[in-house]
Amino acid sequence: MANGKEIWEEIAAREAYFGVATYDKYLAGGLDEKAKAEFFESGREHVDLVFTELESAFGSLGKPTKALDYGCGVGRVLLPLAERCGSVVGVDISAGMLEECRRNIDVAGLEAFELRTDQEFVAGKDAEFDLVHTYIVLQHVEPLIGYRIIEKMLKSLKPGGVGMIHLTHTDVAPIFKRLRSRVYRDIPFAHRVLSLVKREKRPFIPMYSYDMGRVAKLLESNGCLNKISIPTDHGYSGEMIFFSKNTTLTETSLAMSERL
Ligand SMILES: C[S@@+](CC[C@H](N)C(=O)[O-])C[C@H]1O[C@@H](n2cnc3c(N)ncnc32)[C@H](O)[C@@H]1O
Repeated sequence: MANGKEIWEEIAAREAYFGVATYDKYLAGGLDEKAKAEFFESGREHVDLVFTELESAFGSLGKPTKALDYGCGVGRVLLPLAERCGSVVGVDISAGMLEECRRNIDVAGLEAFELRTDQEFVAGKDAEFDLVHTYIVLQHVEPLIGYRIIEKMLKSLKPGGVGMIHLTHTDVAPIFKRLRSRVYRDIPFAHRVLSLVKREKRPFIPMYSYDMGRVAKLLESNGCLNKISIPTDHGYSGEMIFFSKNTTLTETSLAMSERL
């Protein structure tokens, strides 16, 4: 199973900002100070929304002691998250993304942070964070790998902690576009060959659909029984799932976790 590292290293080297938010203004050629400011402002708006939803569902968060941003990219969400939390841990599969994220952290003068690779995160301890978060990341990860990441994120959340996991479940593009994306995604080199022919420089970023029933079971078996969700649309329909982790595992959770 390909974990996508190669693709993301290539994107980080060529088009790190466009790879995060696919608007022409973020292409490397035109990324001026104004575009960069807009890029980071979009991350701040996202963090505001996440806090508003979590607090209206589960009550005041105060200042969470330690937060996780899984798939942090160049730090668009991690930087504003750091302003609201005691410390933040950013995780990414791409060394190039982590390097650019570190540069942005230095510019912002942030001190209470840590950056980890996906492998370091998986090997890390459980019950470490008060808040876990991932946005527009798992949609690009093969679900069989993605479910494992979700499980680890839920385990790494402390009892009483809160989180937001964003996932996609249905490709709603017209049939031709849907087939084309499948070919690019599933046939090695198809996109590379075509972009050479068409002299197209934009990277292809694969998308996947998750089984939301399976995700609901993962949440429940890890004690995240209180949850609400908001629909999203990135060409694929998806959901932002907001949840809180019970302070004690219920009998249902324990039974489910034994079965899974
Ligand atoms: C579209 S960007 C989103 C970045 C950030 N979450 C944001 O909203 O600004 C996706 C990020 O996920 C990272 N990524 C992709 N697959 C991953 C995986 N299996 N584990 C960790 N990070 C991954 C990519 O390297 C990239 O930085």
